[in-house]
Amino acid sequence: MCGVIGYVGRGASPAFFLNALRRLEYRGYDSAGIAMLTADGVVIQRAEGKLSQLERKLDNLPATAKVGIGHTRWATHGKPTENNAHPHRSGPIVLLHNGIIENYRQLKEMLVAKGYEFLSETDTEVAAHLLHDEYKNQTQGNPEERMRLALREVVKQLKGAFAFGILCLDTPEVLYAAKLGSPLVVGQAEGESFLASGITALVEHTRQFLVVEDHELVVLKSTGIEIEHFNGYAVSRPFSKVEWSVAMMEKGGYRHFMLKEIHEHPQAIAQTLNGRIQRDSGTINIADLGVEKLPLKSLSRLQIVACGTSFYAASLSKYFIESVTHLPVEVDLASEYRYRTSTVNAQTLVVAVSQSGETADTLQAIKSARAAGAQTLAIVNVPGSTIAHACHAESLTKAGPEIGVASTKAFAAQLTDLYLLGLALAQERQALSASELRGYVDELVKIPSLVERALGLSESIEKLANRYHQLSSLLFIGRGPQWPVALEGSLKLKELSYIHAEAYAAGELKHGPIALIDENMSVVCLAPRDAYYEKTLSNIEEIKARGGRILAIGQENDAQLAALADDYIGIPECSETILPFMTTVPLHLFAYWIAVRKGTDVDQPRNLAKSVTVE
Ligand code: M6R
Repeated sequence: MCGVIGYVGRGASPAFFLNALRRLEYRGYDSAGIAMLTADGVVIQRAEGKLSQLERKLDNLPATAKVGIGHTRWATHGKPTENNAHPHRSGPIVLLHNGIIENYRQLKEMLVAKGYEFLSETDTEVAAHLLHDEYKNQTQGNPEERMRLALREVVKQLKGAFAFGILCLDTPEVLYAAKLGSPLVVGQAEGESFLASGITALVEHTRQFLVVEDHELVVLKSTGIEIEHFNGYAVSRPFSKVEWSVAMMEKGGYRHFMLKEIHEHPQAIAQTLNGRIQRDSGTINIADLGVEKLPLKSLSRLQIVACGTSFYAASLSKYFIESVTHLPVEVDLASEYRYRTSTVNAQTLVVAVSQSGETADTLQAIKSARAAGAQTLAIVNVPGSTIAHACHAESLTKAGPEIGVASTKAFAAQLTDLYLLGLALAQERQALSASELRGYVDELVKIPSLVERALGLSESIEKLANRYHQLSSLLFIGRGPQWPVALEGSLKLKELSYIHAEAYAAGELKHGPIALIDENMSVVCLAPRDAYYEKTLSNIEEIKARGGRILAIGQENDAQLAALADDYIGIPECSETILPFMTTVPLHLFAYWIAVRKGTDVDQPRNLAKSVTVE
């Protein structure tokens, strides 16, 4: 869950490394470091805390260097201290790492016995010493050849996951990398080569990227990039161009990335729909959706695996996909999926939903489903990501880069993509009539502008936050598709504001959680006028009868709901299909404004990272 960056070329400044790390800071932000290699040797600067701490030390680095590496850390082994920050050095080797070396204890014992002194508590330092040791053992060839051979020896001995960026003082114009299980991309521009954990770090400098695969070593020079398999044979793949721009990764005048990204819900939905629906024929373009090659007609069920917010988008889509396809849809937490007995077969479509396309739990779940014979589809937001590579087919959500650690616009884009998947299945299997399908297509087209109107609630929700930010606990309830929306609202609130929050299916309240209700408990009640409206109103009455405080989210001009509630948010009128897209907006805004009012770190909440690449 760390971010790594590497450069080799005409020359890069400390600011280059810092800026690239800033674009990766969402991956981890508890300590950071940069190493720059010049003719005078290597200079390493590291700091505990966020990148702003490292920034204070930039003057200690050389003004420019032809080779350098940088790291932003999310601690796994050893506290977030300067000593544990990467890079780590052993003799001429300077190395940084994203991943976990599972057998580091055995390797450490062996290296200590050989006389290596460990200065950190990290698993990574083992890799630095091991590489140094293997490099010393190589007797054939020039330093670069010896480094390649040594790296091949090292990767054979490591268990776990890694993406390494490596400098060697004996090869001052070469950068090395190795990858297994952790994400790594390389990019190329005129006279410059780069490596990074994600394309966001490099979009300013190049649009030509190549995703490094597992079991690959990379040798980067200013003149080009060579890839070889761990077994030593050369690998050749074309670079691809990404369309993301620098402006997409800036705050664009908003106070936080999160607020900007909430305001990008309409755009994320519109871009994800774009090209995939044909308005004149009222049909779904399955080729553009990326599902053309899947055996849509012969499937007998769907299983969706995902984590966190992506899991809630998937849970929500179940209601829609089942209703339009009549296929059974199961939704599993990816982190739990592998502990169940697999019952998938070639007629099962297993769908991995992930913004980052890197979440380790989701990756393992989809790999095991594929190995068990299922058809697999990745719904990811980051082009060329690891999960996409692991699946038979890829459907890209088009939310653009999401920088805020809390996922917002990606949720809207995932939901859109999953609705399109449902309709594509219904179309190909003729589960809907042509006019029913057209009806849904016409509905989807309306979503971006309706969501835009819902964003107009921001100011009133900001005021509301003043009445809720001091609470220590909140409940969220919803029925049917509004239950996953409630779950998403409670996750957003807890991760941003550190307020304890729980979400329940409204019908479950009476089975236990109602015991929590008294005059000190506030309940966010999702009660739009859908098929479950009357029943949800009864639940609200039950809460009120026990003294609970009600914040109701319903539709505009709902006098009945407004009268029951202590506070009331009315979203614009819309059809039942569109409702979940709409009710999510006030919940994202509610969590955002409470966090702002509490003064927490909105874009980088404590203990979290954007891509969770550990299991
Ligand atoms: O990149 P992914 O969609 O696979 O990430 C899944 C979760 O880690 C992510 O949604 C997480 O729960 C967010 N912090 C939610 O805001």
